Amino acid sequence: MNQYVFDNADPRNRTRFDSLAVFDPDSHAALAAAGVGPGWKCWEIGCGDGGIGRWLADRVGPGGSVLATDIDTRWLSGDGPVLTVREHDVVRDEPPATDFDLIHARLVLIHLPQRHAVVDRLVSSLRPGGKLVLEEFDLEHPLTTRSTTHRAAFDAVHLPFLRFLRARGVGLDWARSLAEEFVDRGLRDVDVRTRTVLWRGGADEIRLYRVNVEQAAEHLLADGVSTRQLTDFYALLDNPEFTAWSHPLVSVSGTRPV
Ligand SMILES: C[S@@+](CC[C@H](N)C(=O)[O-])C[C@H]1O[C@@H](n2cnc3c(N)ncnc32)[C@H](O)[C@@H]1O
Repeated sequence: MNQYVFDNADPRNRTRFDSLAVFDPDSHAALAAAGVGPGWKCWEIGCGDGGIGRWLADRVGPGGSVLATDIDTRWLSGDGPVLTVREHDVVRDEPPATDFDLIHARLVLIHLPQRHAVVDRLVSSLRPGGKLVLEEFDLEHPLTTRSTTHRAAFDAVHLPFLRFLRARGVGLDWARSLAEEFVDRGLRDVDVRTRTVLWRGGADEIRLYRVNVEQAAEHLLADGVSTRQLTDFYALLDNPEFTAWSHPLVSVSGTRPV
């Protein structure tokens, strides 16, 4: 059984994928900087609703291929001549090939307690000269908001939420060591990019904070968070006077030596 903390069958995942799409331009930029282009053979891991997989398919064109995998592919349609969708657990299942030009995963390994071993396998699944691009949230970055009242209402729920994630094996600080993980495995040309966006209460993207907490609510209540604190947290996310940084997205790329 996989250990992913969020229930993929929950319709609220649509909100999660829509919110994450705000980072697509940053992911596209990191992938473009890695050089992905016509004819490349790519593996998109934990593809979610497949937005990045479709972008890669356009980019590699008819002479290339993109294998988009996830433990649950219900959110992704659009198999075509370039894009292949397949159910695959990156922890449990054998890598589908060992000659990828590019392997990319965004916000997947952070969820996996076995993330170190998974990186080893991903490096071995690249051809010499192939590129690994991993992108993760720095969940330990403190919320940056001006109002102390807003901060108190946010932290009353957000900090227990982070505790819940940590207890389930999520690597809150994994993004911070990612570049060193690449260097330790001999990857070359290691490049790091970080992006944070300012979110305002009521904006579509800030609903990521809401859907995360909603999906963990029963655990938070059991951990002592009150219903009132949850209500205040949701109200804050709808309050246009509330602004907060998103989690910083850390994008790291590296090249397997020839
Ligand atoms: C937070 S979502 C990110 C989705 C997408 N990468 C994005 O950035 O929009 C994490 C995704 O990883 C998938 N996932 C979780 N554990 C996995 C595993 N062991 N192997 C493959 N995919 C996994 C989940 O099903 C989910 O679609």
